[in-house]
Amino acid sequence: MRATPTSQEVLAIDGGTPVRKTLLPYGRQSISEDDIQAVTDVLRSAWLTTGPKVAEFEEALAAWVGAKYAVAFSSGTAALHGAAFAAGLKPGDEAITSPLTFAATANCVLYQGARPVFADVSPDTLNLDPDRCAERITTSTRAVLPVDYAGHPADLDPILALAERHGLTVIEDACHALGAEYHGRRAGSIAHMSVFSFHPVKHLATGEGGMVTTDRADLAESLRRFRNHGISSDARQRHASGQWHYEMVALGFNYRLTDVACALGLSQLKKLEANLARRREIAARYTAAFRNLRGVLGPSVRPKVNPAWHLYPIRVNVAQLNTNRANVFRALRAENIGVNVHYIPVHLHPYYRDRFGYRGGECPVAETAYEQLISLPMFHGMTGQDVEDVIAAVGKVSAAYSL
Ligand SMILES: Cc1ncc(COP(=O)(O)O)c(C=O)c1O
Repeated sequence: MRATPTSQEVLAIDGGTPVRKTLLPYGRQSISEDDIQAVTDVLRSAWLTTGPKVAEFEEALAAWVGAKYAVAFSSGTAALHGAAFAAGLKPGDEAITSPLTFAATANCVLYQGARPVFADVSPDTLNLDPDRCAERITTSTRAVLPVDYAGHPADLDPILALAERHGLTVIEDACHALGAEYHGRRAGSIAHMSVFSFHPVKHLATGEGGMVTTDRADLAESLRRFRNHGISSDARQRHASGQWHYEMVALGFNYRLTDVACALGLSQLKKLEANLARRREIAARYTAAFRNLRGVLGPSVRPKVNPAWHLYPIRVNVAQLNTNRANVFRALRAENIGVNVHYIPVHLHPYYRDRFGYRGGECPVAETAYEQLISLPMFHGMTGQDVEDVIAAVGKVSAAYSL
């Protein structure tokens, strides 16, 4: 006969004591006194926007990832839009992307009047499957947007080979992957253009902010114009040369990142290596703890890859549990573990269903994964106790629902 469970063993959702007293979020920024100092220095300077900090941040980030150029944008979404523009996407064109991503990856194709085409993901990494991508190439395809899901780099070698064969531009959505390594190179130095986000849950935070890295001078030039109304010089260049004259040569936007944000970015960049190391340590601890847990599958890592661990997505193995993902999610929330789900496949959002007629079943691997995924808390500021709380809660829920 089983002993009566203690109030620590009874799930909080069933009236037991939660593992934690307060909610642990799934992601959060870390801001130190030197970050605050860097921002206040800019507030006292002559430039709040489009000043020296922008170029400094761009050069530092380009050097860090190993790219020739970096162009800062006001968000990762704006940076994706810039990349779609620089790739020359226009009405009548198609661009292939992964359905298992944030909607912005596909939306940037729509912003240019082109059509996003979804190709299914590989079952292990949940990144764009190069074979499925090849099947979707038509005479209208102009670009491919692989996504480094959760910080595990997409399989860029075969995707770049496909692109070479068909004359396509590869825009890597590396918003999860600052610091990830693929076959010995950092994300940001491999694809034709790579896009980063500096949203607070990311590895480096500027509030809102984004960047495109590239080795091509023509793309960098086009990106710079696009973020500044399509104008061929910026205010600082005109200030320096004493000129008033400027020309608008393309239709662009105001997608500029401020000096205030860039100063924060530069200060945060100094801590990036340490933040990545901490995330990798947390991932290793999770992976070891969940290895033999019933009902839980940890994320896979391919050989010759070092993920950046923006997320730590587990998959709920319902074959070993007497419940479903929704209940596991609710149970973890009740334990005060701030879990999340990444992502509802983009083609299944009402906007995409209504506009393109998707009904489900188009990308079965991504759709099945979506039904199983739960993102556990993962951020570099997590304490050892936070990590152990997550492990305890996952263990508690697994034990309560195990078949
Ligand atoms: C994969 C992916 N792409 C694009 C974006 C958009 O970035 P931002 O929020 O900086 O606009 C995000 C943001 O969460 C993302 O996760």
